Amino acid sequence: MTSETTNTFTLPRPIVRPRRLRATPGLRRLVAETRLRPADLIWPLFVKEGIDEPVPISSMPGQFQHTEESLAEAVRRAAEAGLGGVMLFGIPAFRDAEGSAGVDPNGVLQRAIRLARATLAEAAPDGPAPVVMADTCLDEFTDHGHCGLLRTSADGTVVVDNDATLAVYQRMAVAQAEAGAEIVGPSGMMDGQVGAIRQALDEAGHQDVAILAYAAKYASAFYGPFREAVDSTLRGDRRTYQMDPANRREGLYETELDIAEGADIVMVKPAASYLDVLTRVADLSPVPVAAYQVSGEYAMVEAAAANGWINRQAAVIEATLAVKRAGANLVLTYWAPELADWLD
Ligand code: PBG
Repeated sequence: MTSETTNTFTLPRPIVRPRRLRATPGLRRLVAETRLRPADLIWPLFVKEGIDEPVPISSMPGQFQHTEESLAEAVRRAAEAGLGGVMLFGIPAFRDAEGSAGVDPNGVLQRAIRLARATLAEAAPDGPAPVVMADTCLDEFTDHGHCGLLRTSADGTVVVDNDATLAVYQRMAVAQAEAGAEIVGPSGMMDGQVGAIRQALDEAGHQDVAILAYAAKYASAFYGPFREAVDSTLRGDRRTYQMDPANRREGLYETELDIAEGADIVMVKPAASYLDVLTRVADLSPVPVAAYQVSGEYAMVEAAAANGWINRQAAVIEATLAVKRAGANLVLTYWAPELADWLD
């Protein structure tokens, strides 16, 4: 039997009109599947030792290397905007091969953490305050700019020494916790870093300090402007420890390892060029998922907007919304306070 002989009657089918739900701002708002909230946003902030005035970062218009005073102001702004958190990066006045300033209880980052906590205790004494997080990585503190300690191997090549670096990360995380960090953010992509840091925090009595693990972090050209932001001295690249942009399966594996080692939050970085990885990480992760909209993503939109080539506000909202739609619960973004103002 052919379908022509059986199918003599068809039910009248209404014309399908998906546009019906797009007709008014109210309808569009009602059916929006993804929403941005200030509390989902984390603002990365840079504080530099030994400057009297904030220094504008030319490749990241609107972002600064802060003095302690301007950092406190930025942290107050974060609280007023209702942001979920701030992620602090320190730029020390002196660097050495071991990144000693990173573990110094009085180092620039530890001082910044203390200042941020004290500022928030005053600015938001009752309500929820932005959570204070710190970058737990050596590249801002080493004179060679790598995320770990260097070792010359038998054949004369210089390598980043994974396990020797873990011991420094442990001391660094404890120093940050002692200064008042509520979340530490290991971003160096050393194997075992989450487990090592968890163990050190627990042994030091900081079992309540959480770990935001840079789980799937790629060796990306989109970190370019960040290198200016932290006065990076790096020559070469980080391809022996950060991941190959070609690899998705490996990003999922890294995420599973970090969760097994005790990560409280896992992160995919960068965001825009890795939305496929982000979606899959969000599908598999039992813990909250963050994504880092990195310096290059910020710089590209700012540059195009400055030339009048795109609508800045619309592009910023769309770019960030896309990261949430792909599966991120939290977004690290340099636009955090401005976005929060627009969302109000
Ligand atoms: C490492 C770190 C980097 C970024 C965040 N943490 C630099 C790198 O991995 O090379 C980049 C963030 C950005 O580009 O906005 N401490």
